[in-house]
Amino acid sequence: MKEKDKSKGIKRRAFLQTGGLFAASAMILPLSGYKVFDAVNDSQNENSIPSVMLNNGLDMPRLGFGTNTLKGDIGTRCVSDAISVGYRLIDTAKIYGNEESVGKGIKQSGIDREALFITSKLWVDDAGYESTKVAFETSLKKLELDYLDLYLIHRPRGDVKGSWKAMEELHMEGKIKAIGVSNFDADQLDDLMKNAKIKPAINQIETHVFFQEHLPYKDLKEKNVQMEAWSPFAAGRNGVFENQTLADIGKKYHKSNAQVCLRWHYQRGVVAIPRSSQKAHMIENLDIFDFELDKTDLKAIVALDLNTTQFPEWG
Ligand SMILES: NC(=O)c1ccc[n+]([C@@H]2O[C@H](COP(=O)([O-])OP(=O)(O)OC[C@H]3O[C@@H](n4cnc5c(N)ncnc54)[C@H](OP(=O)(O)O)[C@@H]3O)[C@@H](O)[C@H]2O)c1
Repeated sequence: MKEKDKSKGIKRRAFLQTGGLFAASAMILPLSGYKVFDAVNDSQNENSIPSVMLNNGLDMPRLGFGTNTLKGDIGTRCVSDAISVGYRLIDTAKIYGNEESVGKGIKQSGIDREALFITSKLWVDDAGYESTKVAFETSLKKLELDYLDLYLIHRPRGDVKGSWKAMEELHMEGKIKAIGVSNFDADQLDDLMKNAKIKPAINQIETHVFFQEHLPYKDLKEKNVQMEAWSPFAAGRNGVFENQTLADIGKKYHKSNAQVCLRWHYQRGVVAIPRSSQKAHMIENLDIFDFELDKTDLKAIVALDLNTTQFPEWG
């Protein structure tokens, strides 16, 4: 990381660790906060992942690495590989059963903890004030970390308000830099925000070219809550990697279907967290910052929207 960025990051971190509430942080923190998450990968090529400033002033990489299903030694190897090729945002969750593997991968990477952005999530069984505190400490212990950058309520089930209160306190104690939700619809978000002291920084939802979620997209923009895409490739469903429209677009720029998908998320301003078990794919998925989809491409992608989940079994 460049020295200038490093010192800016540390100053901001110090502030966040004092636990300023959203309103205060939004007013005090510099609004110019465009930061690049620099990384030199293991083949000596420099990668830079642009960041977005969340509504509490924290910088978050706009492209990260998902870890669902990557468990045990494979999980450790994948996280270590992902960090070595340039990823700085790592997304895990209690329910993935891989927080220990992710923690080992982080250690193995040898990268300074402060340069990383680590997300985990509270599972539905742990909803409620007391149980959230216990679940959070357990996640932290498994990850062998002493703070999280982002902690999300995984699904809107159970005593969400109790969980949120606990998460607000953990944020104010400096143990979580940003708190947010996942899989919340507009009404559930409104309900949570009614009594919240701290506004969610993120809503992580299913979105990809087949499920573009135009209404939540607009709603989250209006609420200044950052949208994050889970399954940015629809986990490979519906033939996304063979899709002819995406292939035709990719051909113009010498890019793959995966890269077209990720560039689309990026141009929408949505943070994406693609998963891969293959280093070559991890590298490919980072290589999206040297081309731009034009209006015709974007129009063709809009037409791919099926406006329905690709994961009906998770309903
Ligand atoms: N909050 C939630 O409720 C929720 C739900 C689901 C997921 N998530 C998060 O979102 C992350 C991503 O979603 P996901 O894991 O469901 O799926 P995804 O990232 O949409 O797709 C993963 C699949 O794409 C393949 N792939 C990756 N890069 C590729 C490339 N360049 N070319 C061809 N194939 C490629 C992978 O295969 P290879 O391994 O062979 O590369 C894997 O089969 C998860 O890992 C998790 O962190 C959150």
